[in-house]
Amino acid sequence: MRSLIDILELSTQEIDELVAVAEDIIANPVKYSEKCHGKKLATLFFEPSTRTRLSFEAAMYELGGNVLGFSEASSSSASKGESVADTARIVSGYADIIAMRHPKEGAPLVASMYADVPIINAGDGGHNHPTQTLTDLLTIHREKGRFDNLTIGLCGDLKFGRTVHSLIGAMSRYSNIKFVLISPNELKVPDYIRNDILIKKGMDFEETASLEDAMPKLDILYMTRIQRERFFNEAEYLRLKDSYILDTDKLRTAKKDMCILHPLPRVNEISTAVDDDPRAAYFRQARNGKYIRMALIMKLLEVK
Ligand code: CP
Repeated sequence: MRSLIDILELSTQEIDELVAVAEDIIANPVKYSEKCHGKKLATLFFEPSTRTRLSFEAAMYELGGNVLGFSEASSSSASKGESVADTARIVSGYADIIAMRHPKEGAPLVASMYADVPIINAGDGGHNHPTQTLTDLLTIHREKGRFDNLTIGLCGDLKFGRTVHSLIGAMSRYSNIKFVLISPNELKVPDYIRNDILIKKGMDFEETASLEDAMPKLDILYMTRIQRERFFNEAEYLRLKDSYILDTDKLRTAKKDMCILHPLPRVNEISTAVDDDPRAAYFRQARNGKYIRMALIMKLLEVK
């Protein structure tokens, strides 16, 4: 039995296979409509979500399975003090696979140590979000047709943005990747990402506060929201929240085939006028999340 807690638990070959299955699901959805008949997915969301929870649930329904779960901690017995370990043990008796989002870093890992069924990390605090990264990888594959020879700009809250941490880990395994890390000084990537991935693996990367300077170099621009819920100090959030706003004017210097990604939700960081630009791939990206989660559920349930 296998869980998915960190994107690096999947080899690049396994990622290629998941992407290929997702592409086949997109092309032939009917072929997959009964693959998980009789199986149940539990979605245990201790933190808010729109895309991740609903795309997981849609994914299981489209595979012919069923779904149970909760969308906030207050409606579960966590509000009475039940531990993550006990919750995982209990829900293992009700479901075949569990997707868990939790505000505490490491909670899905703890759940995986006590559950009898696969646990999928659907986002743990400011740490990791591996299924968002799978979504990002499918989107990069569909939009750019390759995972290597890319200059990737990551912009915004690189400190608390868990999708950024997982994506850097995943993309650092491909060749000729350059990262341009665009953030205010206060929101740079954490040391464990800089030291354990970027420096240790000898990645080509630069850090800058200027989106304008970075723009012409980029093949992919990955915008992120400033993560209000992770700030200890509201005044600090208010000071930093509008650090970067991508608008049509800023895109004038971008490559004609640059791909604009965002894990969403967005607040102010991408002007709605950008939505009509063909390079804006973030709504296609959100849709891709359902297909790659279908592929992942089948893999972890060992459905052929
Ligand atoms: N990208 C993402 O995780 O969105 P949700 O918070 O809506 O699930």
